[in-house]
Amino acid sequence: MSPSARRTPDPAAPPASDRVAGPEALPEDLQEEQRLRPLALDEFVGQPDLKEQLRIFIEAARRRGEALDHVLFHGPPGLGKTTLASILAHELGVEITHTSGPVIERPGDLAGLLTNLPPRGILFVDEIHRLSPVVEEYLYPALEDFTIDIMLDRGPSARSLKINLERFTLVGATTRSGLLSSPLRARFGVTMRLDYYGAEDLARIVTRSAGILKVETEPEAAREIARRARGTPRVANRLLRRVRDFALVRADAKVTLPVTREALKMLAVDERGLDEMDRRLLEALIRKYGGGPVGLGTLAVVVGEESGTLEEVYEPFLIQEGFLKRTPRGREATALAYEHLGLKPPGGASGTGDAQPELPLS
Ligand SMILES: Nc1ncnc2c1ncn2[C@@H]1O[C@H](COP(=O)(O)OP(=O)(O)O)[C@@H](O)[C@H]1O
Ligand SMILES: [Mg+2]
Repeated sequence: MSPSARRTPDPAAPPASDRVAGPEALPEDLQEEQRLRPLALDEFVGQPDLKEQLRIFIEAARRRGEALDHVLFHGPPGLGKTTLASILAHELGVEITHTSGPVIERPGDLAGLLTNLPPRGILFVDEIHRLSPVVEEYLYPALEDFTIDIMLDRGPSARSLKINLERFTLVGATTRSGLLSSPLRARFGVTMRLDYYGAEDLARIVTRSAGILKVETEPEAAREIARRARGTPRVANRLLRRVRDFALVRADAKVTLPVTREALKMLAVDERGLDEMDRRLLEALIRKYGGGPVGLGTLAVVVGEESGTLEEVYEPFLIQEGFLKRTPRGREATALAYEHLGLKPPGGASGTGDAQPELPLS
């Protein structure tokens, strides 16, 4: 691939923030993902604290008859940020307009979106950390006073006109809250972090999805998929669909535990839910760099993946599961990583009790 081809995004490809680890998405997955989206807050599995808070905000906004405060969802891809934005609109009974940071190129694009919002409407901006600085500046007065300046004419006769917008709610989503400017962050009344899901919640999600897709799935099979889904609903749903395909071709279409195990083996998803890229990353770190520390950029080159993808998609899970550590000097493999790959840790290396302070996730 030439460098310029690499830079031009494929219009049919899902946005970067939708990228998750595990098997690649097939085109029909994107449509099915829509079908699997819960519409109401009650259908949204897990995250009880977050749901409880949202319920209160929704009820309060409803009673006051006002627009909801601006909301920011952040967390790794595939945990339900886009879904929650749609649920908010559904629960409030208002319209939602979907867009994303990189799509809004100029202030004029944003003005178009804002002036078309109905009263109390929701503007959902995915990948909000990728808004350009000029667009971001332009957004501030809209968020605070619900006004924007529109430029009339150009050159010496240019004038600007202040116009009032309907009261609206901005719902932002980001996988990289650390990259959000602090003035933008400060303008959200509500900020919510989505965390990886436990195996039980994921099993409920798999069972729910199996019902919608009409795939007969044994409870043990649902639990197995859940265990290996990296704490991520999108991965769980994707694994279910691949296992379903496998069951259709190799078995009698029924998703049983043995069929699930065999399918996941074929997909190179291991016992802990790590895929080829995870293992390649840990192996490179251990075999080439003695377990680290090594910089992210170097690792990215060695495994042939973009460093942004490693940082957003792969690392958070490896860190959360205790395979990888972030230190001021770079990434380090833990004793658990050695053990998982069947390698012998160098004398005294340990996954815990190391003096290196860990850096917080962005
Ligand atoms: N809590 C949940 N309960 C049920 N399904 C979920 C939940 N969270 C996410 N999903 C499903 O996972 C998929 C990815 O969710 P999405 O909202 O697109 O994630 P994000 O926007 O955070 O990347 C969707 O198909 C959605 O239906
Ligand atoms: Mg999303």
